[in-house]
Amino acid sequence: MERPKVYVTRRLFPEVLQRLAQECSVQAWDSDLPVPRTILLQEARDCDGLLTLITERIDAELMDACPRLRVVSNMAVGYDNIDIPEATRRGILVGNTPRVLTKTTADFAWALLMAAARLVVQGDRDVRAGKWRTWEPLGWLGQDVHGATLGIVGLGQIGLEMAKRATGFEMRVLYYDTVRRPPEEEARYHLQFVPTLETLLPQADFLTLHTPLTPQTYHLIGAPQLRLMKRTAILINTSRGKVVDQKALYEALRDGLIWAAALDVTEEEPIPPDDPLLTLPNCIITPHIASASFATRRAMANLAVDNLLAGLKGLPMPACVNPEARHPSKG
Ligand code: GLV
Repeated sequence: MERPKVYVTRRLFPEVLQRLAQECSVQAWDSDLPVPRTILLQEARDCDGLLTLITERIDAELMDACPRLRVVSNMAVGYDNIDIPEATRRGILVGNTPRVLTKTTADFAWALLMAAARLVVQGDRDVRAGKWRTWEPLGWLGQDVHGATLGIVGLGQIGLEMAKRATGFEMRVLYYDTVRRPPEEEARYHLQFVPTLETLLPQADFLTLHTPLTPQTYHLIGAPQLRLMKRTAILINTSRGKVVDQKALYEALRDGLIWAAALDVTEEEPIPPDDPLLTLPNCIITPHIASASFATRRAMANLAVDNLLAGLKGLPMPACVNPEARHPSKG
């Protein structure tokens, strides 16, 4: 039987790609930068499967160009780069990489929270700039983390890990979620559900975002929401940049409506070098690295390969976003 043909859109761990190559005919974009769209359209045209990243737009145009495509395996938990209804309609299975990155991502969100609260980045910058003159009673004052109120938007797996970390810091934890309300976890981690975002915002000392990007969550945090937050509040975003209206965030940080922000994701990635957010001392920005530990990125790549291989063989995928695509409804 002919081996399925797959295209991998980025340089990955060689041993992980080798696993794929044992069963498939593999072509890969051998670079650390994204594959240009024209090359992707060209290379993928006779492929049965694709291993993609969040930087690739997998839409109707691409699916039109790849009539044999049966599986798209995204090496990410988020899949807002893929037109899922279109894939489902065409019977294309889509895989993602949940679970393996949950704790690593929460660790990083926590690192951002701590860094913003206690001026870790600013302190380092100042030391290097020769501004450390002495022990200053009034210098580099931050916000306490212990005992503060953490507001979690989206109590999925990562949101829940944030709640667990907060218990060690004796924090009060409030959460807002439009889908989940798990009674067991609520009781175990002393979580308090709030029915609206508007009730959460004025109470949170730290607001951490863990929602997928959907039409409903686009600019979920904009000027009206930022106005409701405490002037001492800190916003942490490790979800998707477009969940926050970045222009409104810039104005809120500039005008002192909130105290600081720490973002691992931005509306445009990478953030353009002339973006005004980069001029603010009270905004930390990291290059979308919340899942970037050695072990986790390897686990994500392995899960992406497992998904791809299972989907191509017609077996249940370990993590499938649209299992109904196996039997797409007509029309
Ligand atoms: C990264 O952003 C992911 O969705 O895994």
